Amino acid sequence: MINIPKGTKDVLPSQSYKWQYIEQTAKEVARVFNIKEIRTPVFEHTELFRRGVGETTDVVGKEMYTFEDKGGRSITLKPEGTAGAVRLFVENGLSSTPMPVKTWYMTPAFRYERPQAGRLREFHQFGIEVFGSKSAETDAEVIFAASSFLDKLGIKKVKLEINSIGCKSCRADYNRALKEYFKSRLSEMCETCRTRFDTNPLRMLDCKEERCKEIGVNAPEILDYLCDDCKTHFEKVKSMLKEQGVEYTVNPRIVRGLDYYSRTVFEFVSNEIGAQGTVCGGGRYDGLVAELGGPETPAIGFAAGIERLMLLMDNTGVEYPQEPKPVIYIAGMDEKSRAEAFKIAQALRNSGISAEIDHMERSVKAQLKYADKLGARFVAVIGESELQSGEVNIKNMSDGSSEAVKISDIYSYLKQKEN
Ligand code: HAM
Repeated sequence: MINIPKGTKDVLPSQSYKWQYIEQTAKEVARVFNIKEIRTPVFEHTELFRRGVGETTDVVGKEMYTFEDKGGRSITLKPEGTAGAVRLFVENGLSSTPMPVKTWYMTPAFRYERPQAGRLREFHQFGIEVFGSKSAETDAEVIFAASSFLDKLGIKKVKLEINSIGCKSCRADYNRALKEYFKSRLSEMCETCRTRFDTNPLRMLDCKEERCKEIGVNAPEILDYLCDDCKTHFEKVKSMLKEQGVEYTVNPRIVRGLDYYSRTVFEFVSNEIGAQGTVCGGGRYDGLVAELGGPETPAIGFAAGIERLMLLMDNTGVEYPQEPKPVIYIAGMDEKSRAEAFKIAQALRNSGISAEIDHMERSVKAQLKYADKLGARFVAVIGESELQSGEVNIKNMSDGSSEAVKISDIYSYLKQKEN
């Protein structure tokens, strides 16, 4: 017996309707926000993530599934969706199409992390990336789209936290202040933080080591270092959220785990799913398109982790709509009537009604038991007398009532009951 790899999950037939529901909800949100789907490969050239996500991040430094393919290229399974979306935008010349370019994706993503509740090695993200607008309205719209997705799913126990991590120019001042702050305690910090001190001090605030977290508690806050433009931008985003009644708190400690961010960053977090409480995260990345070879193009987006959302929904009693059930089960008593049941089921299916029949040569009694287990709404039993009269009794399983219906009228009967 070969087991599933650590940190991955199967979706069982009895559970897949939950995935479909979340996917449909995501598509519905994308539709009303006029956002178009994109699909990018599951693997990309490793360089894309090194440059895009950033060498100093845990994702690139420690967690990527990287291998050499048979042609000697370094290939990486995507650890997130943004870098691939940006590559698609640049490579396909979308920058010369009318702006903004609003895209969404549903994708598996791979990170070699220590698995725990809500943290997997293969997980799935629903993401939105909007290219071409630098306005605060776009930040607000992207946050509304995320919030509307969570709302539509019936998720209540999440809080929106936002921050601004400034632009290149204010970040330089802030990095200097961080270095000044950490300088005297550097020898007490982990090796990664010591490297980050030189390469990217902002990342030191993202360290998971308890000791480093403690040392960082009183570190200077980015919001005190924002330039006037970044300040104005952030104020506008906040006022638009307020206007729309979207509740948020400003959390100056949010720096996000990936290097491409600038200005607005945000997370939807929950206390109901343990240590991995961020169900959705995103922000602006105004420099990434140019970094990956495209023209200067502001952009903003987010991604929500589907498995974390499901964990949150399960832990907080959010209900899914009912699993779809067959409309009718048609049982056959003998060979001839089973053949007729097969024909009727096929005709119903061709007309869009879900119908089930026996595949296991069960007795009629066992077929009826099975139909009940399946949750079929109606059951019909066909035997010699039904074949002769051309009429069957259709039993309504919810109230036990039954009606005689001509075999040729089964479709219209079920259609009328559907309404
Ligand atoms: P991220 O915060 O790294 O951002 O991931 C987004 C979401 O993916 C997380 O909030 C979480 O729900 C889920 N997630 C991340 N890692 C795991 C894991 N190991 N197991 C289960 N779920 C996980 C990004 O990936 C950015 N690309 C988001 C973005 C899009 N920013 C701008 N545009």
